[in-house]
Amino acid sequence: MSGGPGEAAGVSGRDAETAPAHVLVVGATGMIGGLAARALHRRGASVALAGRNAERLADRARLLGDRPHRAFDAYDLDGCAGLAPWAARSLGRLDCVVVAVGVAGFGRAELVGDAAAEHLMTVNALAPMAVVRGALPLLEAGGTVGVVTGVIVDAPPRGMADYAAAKTALATWLGVVGREQRARGVRVVDVRMPHLDGGFAARAVTGGPPTLPPGADPEASVERHLLAPLAGGTERNR
Ligand SMILES: NC(=O)c1ccc[n+]([C@@H]2O[C@H](COP(=O)([O-])OP(=O)(O)OC[C@H]3O[C@@H](n4cnc5c(N)ncnc54)[C@H](OP(=O)(O)O)[C@@H]3O)[C@@H](O)[C@H]2O)c1
Repeated sequence: MSGGPGEAAGVSGRDAETAPAHVLVVGATGMIGGLAARALHRRGASVALAGRNAERLADRARLLGDRPHRAFDAYDLDGCAGLAPWAARSLGRLDCVVVAVGVAGFGRAELVGDAAAEHLMTVNALAPMAVVRGALPLLEAGGTVGVVTGVIVDAPPRGMADYAAAKTALATWLGVVGREQRARGVRVVDVRMPHLDGGFAARAVTGGPPTLPPGADPEASVERHLLAPLAGGTERNR
């Protein structure tokens, strides 16, 4: 796997402006997914949007010019796997899938209940894996997959064992899938996003966040850590 700290600095502004043509954005109702969908649309990509909150999803699809959209829930793994086939039908083809689905959870391991632990693993790992699994057979050489994990994979702090374990499981899975897909020319980008401004931690499914330092600028971070690597040929970004 290529990539490593700072590699994004090698991606030129010109590459970052190159958008894949037909893109499914999963988690388009969230901050990162919403920013990615908007930026890709601005660059001329034909986007299909998927998200949980049906009302926000419809609003965002309308704002981008009545784009195809589909609501789903992470617990419906068949539904997750069906998103890419739906997008390919809706758009006529599929070149790229962006997955920005997730939820935070906080608290020492012994204080996190089984239901919350299952929720964290389902939303942060199993659902993104199902989306990608459903997309791989549809992507041709030159196709790309970008999935947001987080810097937590590289430095998991105390008080976030379950959230960090889910993201790390996803990152490991993506690394193997990336190697499996390389021979057929499909690139898998593990987006190790830094902490951003935007309230993600406050929407935790369990526990409350510790005092966090100010986050990075969301729009610039989506550009640098997600869109530039998708356009520019790296497989991991931090
Ligand atoms: N923000 C950060 O600081 C940061 C840093 C590193 C990594 N990340 C990762 O980036 C991803 C997106 O974060 P964000 O900041 O954009 O968060 P966000 O604004 O809270 O968006 C989260 C997205 O996940 C979706 N989601 C949550 N639970 C779901 C469920 N049960 N079924 C289906 N969809 C579900 C949300 O859908 P609805 O809104 O429709 O409910 C939304 O689209 C997450 O994986 C997060 O772990 C974020």
